[in-house]
Amino acid sequence: MQRKWWHGKTAYQIYPKSFCDSNGDGIGDLRGIIGKLDYLQELGVGIVWLSPVYCSPLADQGYDISDYYAIDPRFGTMDDMDELIREGKKRGISIVMDLVVNHCSDEHEWFRRACEDPDGPYGQFFYIRQWHPGEKLPCNWRSYFGGPVWDLLPGHPDRIYFHAFHKKQPDLNWENPMLRKEVYRMIRWWLDKGLGGFRIDAIINIKKLLPFCDFPADRDDGLCDIKRMLEKAEGVNVFLREMADETFVRYDAFSVGEVFDEKEEDLPFIIGDNGYFSTMFDFSEKLIGSDPRGWYCWRLPTAEEYKDACFGAQARSSDVGFLANIIENHDEPRGVSHYLPQGVTCDAAKKMLGGVNFMLRGLPFLYQGQEIGMENVPFADITEIDDIHTIDQYEVALRAGLPKEEAFAAVVPFSRDHARTPFQWSAEKNAGFTAGTPWLKVNPNYTRVNLAEQRGREDSVYNFYRRLIALRKDPLFAETIVYGRTEPWQREKENFLSYFRRGDRSILVAANFSGEAMDVSLPDGSFEVLLNNLPELHADGKTACHLLPWQFLILDYGPMEGVMKA
Ligand code: GLC
Ligand code: CA
Repeated sequence: MQRKWWHGKTAYQIYPKSFCDSNGDGIGDLRGIIGKLDYLQELGVGIVWLSPVYCSPLADQGYDISDYYAIDPRFGTMDDMDELIREGKKRGISIVMDLVVNHCSDEHEWFRRACEDPDGPYGQFFYIRQWHPGEKLPCNWRSYFGGPVWDLLPGHPDRIYFHAFHKKQPDLNWENPMLRKEVYRMIRWWLDKGLGGFRIDAIINIKKLLPFCDFPADRDDGLCDIKRMLEKAEGVNVFLREMADETFVRYDAFSVGEVFDEKEEDLPFIIGDNGYFSTMFDFSEKLIGSDPRGWYCWRLPTAEEYKDACFGAQARSSDVGFLANIIENHDEPRGVSHYLPQGVTCDAAKKMLGGVNFMLRGLPFLYQGQEIGMENVPFADITEIDDIHTIDQYEVALRAGLPKEEAFAAVVPFSRDHARTPFQWSAEKNAGFTAGTPWLKVNPNYTRVNLAEQRGREDSVYNFYRRLIALRKDPLFAETIVYGRTEPWQREKENFLSYFRRGDRSILVAANFSGEAMDVSLPDGSFEVLLNNLPELHADGKTACHLLPWQFLILDYGPMEGVMKA
């Protein structure tokens, strides 16, 4: 495997709107982020991914871009962005932006021009079709945020355009070489500024199954899951190869794909040596318990399912490349509220979950607030929700016949807004996020869960994450933690999640994924404790070990030669 500058780093995702507000308008901004760079350095991260800060009407919180070359004034200026890149570099932090090129905003100039003249060159930047009221649509695919993927082209009662997501997010026509050229030019423009790279949004969707066609309907709305077309569409690889060669490869830039529904055999092309991307997120844990009928049918994962998902992903990727490991992001509930049994909020369990995920082979990504153990929000009803996806899923549940309260209770555990509430800096007003009124309510638990309380406390979740990050950089262990292979240990023991990382040393990760104490056996040989989430360790010095509830250990068994075969 070719070695790359990002392999040993820890990445951190910022959701700019909710990170830190510098001017009291209730919206986080770039100056707020610049002011926290020292904090990020103290934490130890080396890559910071910003969710979109481009000009946008914020119909989907910035994932609807109206100008790829400008910063939205709510977030700051281009000078602020340049300063962030510069100041990040001084602290060993590469800034990575979101690349949202499956679609743009309906307020982007390209789309406005397409509306003015659908038969002109910009009409070819989108998927626009003739259509007369009463006629059948070109296909019956359901958009991710609900309803058909087709909507009337503004100003043209006889034309429709395609959107895989919200109707304010028209899809770009990647079949058009002019469009692709414009996209690559834009990517290079940012990389020329010194940007470290990109997180690439929703990228599998850029290849459509053409000509458009129907699939059997899977709900009463007569539509089908858009995934049906993704299964059949061939040729996304050609676009991705071209994009990589025209952009990232030339700059040795970092890239992480938001890739769902990839074809298994494509993994080497995506993240292998000379793959299109440096890495891609592992979503296999997120998908546990999901159901095509909608969130109202989803259920929460168990520890055993979580273990299987982790080991499955490790097995698929280990001979190929690096996955990016997460427990949460801006599209998911908080990891500690989702993967731990309901109601478990103790520090030990939070650290255990973080440690298990962080130590897997791959690139660890933390999401803002994860490092202090931020939790889901006790939303009371749908009027408190901002996220368009949750609102749609609530309506899906209502249409399925659930009464309002039940519909809300069924979908809210999966809401994207849990992760989008302001970062909890302190126990002061608005958790220290803003001097004004926050755009989304602060989680009321901020007086209990906040950075100020944890920073100086040695046994806090925050300091635990700092130690994990430091361990990954420690010259003695880095080779093993970064590149070593993963070997499950005692996989069949229920609620015990344990694995070796084997590189030039042998390191064992052992976690009690439950609130009950358990006896486990450790491998033969002497070890040193690198990290323990509890003050005590009950081991007899040989193989017997008594793990307390949620106990998590990292044990160093020394250089590989000295290790007995487990
Ligand atoms: C990705 C983003 C999500 C957004 C969607 C459409 O999944 O992470 O937030 O809504 O793409 O751009
Ligand atoms: Ca602001």
